[in-house]
Amino acid sequence: MSYLEWSRACTARVRESHVQSLAARAQELSLRLAKEVDAGLLPFLRMGYVETLKRDMPRLVEKTRQYKHMLVLGIGGSALGTRAMQKAFAREVDMPGHGGHEGKQIWIADNVCPTTLGDWFGLLDPQRTVVVTISKSGGTIETISQYFLAREWLQKALGEAWKDHMIVVTDEAKGFLREEARAHGLDALEVPDNLGGRYSALSAVGLLPAAFLGIDWEALLEGAASLARPLVDNQASLATHPSMALASWAKALEDYGYTDLIFFCYEPLFAMYGPWFAQLWAESLGKEGLGTMPIPATGVTDQHSVNQMFLDGIRNKACLFVTSEKHNAGPTFPDNLPKGWEFLSGKPFSCLIEAESLGTRMALSMHDVPLVQICLDDASEKSGGKLMMLLEIATVLTGWLMGINPLDQPAVELGKRLANARLGKPGYEDEEKLLAHYLKTAEVRQDF
Ligand code: PA5
Repeated sequence: MSYLEWSRACTARVRESHVQSLAARAQELSLRLAKEVDAGLLPFLRMGYVETLKRDMPRLVEKTRQYKHMLVLGIGGSALGTRAMQKAFAREVDMPGHGGHEGKQIWIADNVCPTTLGDWFGLLDPQRTVVVTISKSGGTIETISQYFLAREWLQKALGEAWKDHMIVVTDEAKGFLREEARAHGLDALEVPDNLGGRYSALSAVGLLPAAFLGIDWEALLEGAASLARPLVDNQASLATHPSMALASWAKALEDYGYTDLIFFCYEPLFAMYGPWFAQLWAESLGKEGLGTMPIPATGVTDQHSVNQMFLDGIRNKACLFVTSEKHNAGPTFPDNLPKGWEFLSGKPFSCLIEAESLGTRMALSMHDVPLVQICLDDASEKSGGKLMMLLEIATVLTGWLMGINPLDQPAVELGKRLANARLGKPGYEDEEKLLAHYLKTAEVRQDF
């Protein structure tokens, strides 16, 4: 059974009574929840798309089986969930001499690094590669530019057969990528209406790559549904839902002047959930001068890196501390350890992560860092799906308590528009003027 552990959530500075008063807004929020679920604004929660997904995806999963490599083109929410799931549930991909699930390999192009993309085109065999282009909007320049290059790469090697090696995951009706799918008869899976990138890992966006890797994607959905279904069926249950408690705590932290929220993951297999969570939290809640900064960290690695700052730096940090109950024991220490190390003899390697997790948790609490422990049952797909859903719902509710819209990301649009103007895309005349003005300022350089 997964659970939240609350005994260290409040401190002298973070009053339980305030957290409770925010939690008492559950009834008001449950009405909003009912409305937004009915209006189709929260598809990640309603999961109504799952039926279509279960109908359409198996054929494409079957199709991808003939390939050794999947090259995923996507960025932000179209990539971070995939990476988290691959690292957690398809570990063999990163193992020496990988011959894991049918030897499948995945390459996630979530940047515009010219060197890396060039390397992939040089090293991958197009005959044995399927390219999956993922973009909800269908127009994200980082993804679409890579699509053009991948298409050209496939075309050169395979001619018309390039179309068999390309799958797109995008909006059902709108956007450039959907037009491409129609124009070339490409296989496509849909991203449902209103399912924004950072809430889409458990749709075709993350699940097609997951299925390719042999990850139990239905168990991911099952885990997520076990948290979502009670809320969809009965919004009044929000009052006792763990996501409401998390949101109330998160909002209280902000009210008490905490500006940073550490996501300290002591299930090392889930380390890449950190960057996934960071995007979810930051892009959803960093609005109107509000929000707490997510800081992804991995136990125990970051004990030897940033933990000193967590413990004794500015007192502005709270912590979500993720653990899992059932670990693989790992190798056992031999009996013949040198003097001073005998205490390890006969113990499983897993004793370290357990002891260090406890030690760090205690140290954080002893330094008055408000801390909630998210205890997962294990590191299975089901637990991974649960964790994603819990954090997604908690993020939306925190946004509602803050009085901001957790589903948009208006501020990041400016940089994108300016980059488009720089590249000469038509329709960005205002941004061109802003650029010209910005570039007029003389640089102040210091060589080194
Ligand atoms: O969460 C979000 O909405 C964003 O981070 C998007 O995922 C990201 O910008 C990529 O967008 P798209 O999937 O439309 O290409």
